[in-house]
Amino acid sequence: MRILTVVGARPNFVKIAPLVNEMKKRNIDYDLVHTGQHYDKELSKDFFDQLEIPDPNIYLGVGSGTHGVQTGKTMMKMEEVLMQQEYDLVMVVGDVNSTLAAAIAAVKLQIPVGHIEAGYRSMDMQMPEEVNRVLVDRVSQFLFAPTENAVLNLMNEGIDKERTFLVGNIMIETLLNNMKRLKRPQVLDSLDDYIVLTLHRAENTDNKERLTSIMAGLENIGTPIVFPVHPRTLQKLKAHGIYDKLERNENIRFIKPLTYLEFQYLLSHSRCALTDSGGVQEEAMVHKVPCLTLRKNTERMISLQYGANKLVGTDKDVISSSVKSILEDGYEEWAIPPYWDIKVSSRIMDSLMDNQELLFVPTSDLTQ
Ligand code: UD1
Repeated sequence: MRILTVVGARPNFVKIAPLVNEMKKRNIDYDLVHTGQHYDKELSKDFFDQLEIPDPNIYLGVGSGTHGVQTGKTMMKMEEVLMQQEYDLVMVVGDVNSTLAAAIAAVKLQIPVGHIEAGYRSMDMQMPEEVNRVLVDRVSQFLFAPTENAVLNLMNEGIDKERTFLVGNIMIETLLNNMKRLKRPQVLDSLDDYIVLTLHRAENTDNKERLTSIMAGLENIGTPIVFPVHPRTLQKLKAHGIYDKLERNENIRFIKPLTYLEFQYLLSHSRCALTDSGGVQEEAMVHKVPCLTLRKNTERMISLQYGANKLVGTDKDVISSSVKSILEDGYEEWAIPPYWDIKVSSRIMDSLMDNQELLFVPTSDLTQ
């Protein structure tokens, strides 16, 4: 079997690492495409190096742009790649624009698609990632779901059960594989009691009122806040005219985006995580760090069900009172969900190998 795996943005790199390892172990013939959606060293190369992902054999150099430009350019370039060589399957991960573009380019050429992290739903089609998730799952032949809830979401959309595999959370496989390698970031030379903040989602950064309200909710928390800031967020804080005041606030430590091993160290030693990222909600859960999510919904339902996470939205008073409640009143510990272990990539490859007949089902028969 010949597989083309595709990655484009930071969270993709974390998810592909164990899969590439597993394919190598099984002597599977594969190529790795990097679309170039993320290109900064801190968002891309550092992740390949630390997670020991082999260099991509194909780099598309797509870069930044509007959704249409980024997705369209990726589709065009992916189509060229797919027309030059024969692949039995295109494997995509997560929910970024590169994931959607690769899946559509493949299915239009009648090449089967496998989707890792299938079935997550926030039920909010205003989120670009939700659009990507729904569309990618709709055209995928193999759906690898991280949780039972994700499987149910797929069933509710009429996706054939035979093609849905509950394999667990591959991002957590990466985390568990690297737990002993975490690196203490320099910012902790002068800090030991702190909160970690990540914020980059368009719905928060691009809306001045919301971004101002989130940051206002954090201005007067007594405990220091370490904020590895995503390039788009930094741009937007400056453009909205709120950066200068925040920079003068000694309690908020702006730092550059961290490498994977440093970020996980920072998160694992923090009192609480504040985030609008999807992956961080899950990683905090595994580190047993309580999470407050700066959104009104989440596709990571399991973190809410297990009591590891709370949706606090973007209202400044709700944010500051929720942080204070965790710091002062504490919280109850939670369990780790089933299949969030170091065997996820192996389950994916087993499901693929045991169900190869699915590679030949016409795409028109994808739903019941
Ligand atoms: C993308 C994903 C998001 C994911 C996030 C992880 C989509 C729709 N969004 O969002 O789901 O959580 O990656 O980080 O695919 N930029 C740089 N350097 C880079 C890349 C981007 O400075 O290497 C800046 C550019 O100004 C760019 C902006 O960040 O326009 C946004 O980048 P983009 O890839 O479009 O989306 P993210 O916000 O990173």
